[in-house]
Amino acid sequence: MEARRLKSVHSDWSNTLLVCRNCSKRMGGGFGPKGRTPLAKALRKHLRVKKSRKAALGIVEVKCLGVCPRGAVTVINGKAPGEWLLVKAGADLDCVADAVGLPGSASYTDEVQVS
Ligand code: FES
Repeated sequence: MEARRLKSVHSDWSNTLLVCRNCSKRMGGGFGPKGRTPLAKALRKHLRVKKSRKAALGIVEVKCLGVCPRGAVTVINGKAPGEWLLVKAGADLDCVADAVGLPGSASYTDEVQVS
């Protein structure tokens, strides 16, 4: 009976990254050409992923995850939630994508252009 009360919506996300918003805020961004762009926004731009559920990948900013590293941002890969990443300010975004097991930016570009 209770299951009937639940509704769902479809998403095209193949994976989800949870990025701590508070870490980015504490660093004043930390990424991008001027070092002021939050990691989530920089990753979305680098991988050319939009914000909607129609995107190929979900990059979601969340509240403090309780790790609070100095000079780094806590990231959880939805496909490997057992190992969290601490991404230092100014880190190479290709390396971040590799570390979370994402294909390079080209593959997401192709998907975005098709849809
Ligand atoms: S401020 Fe990011 S984990 Fe606490």
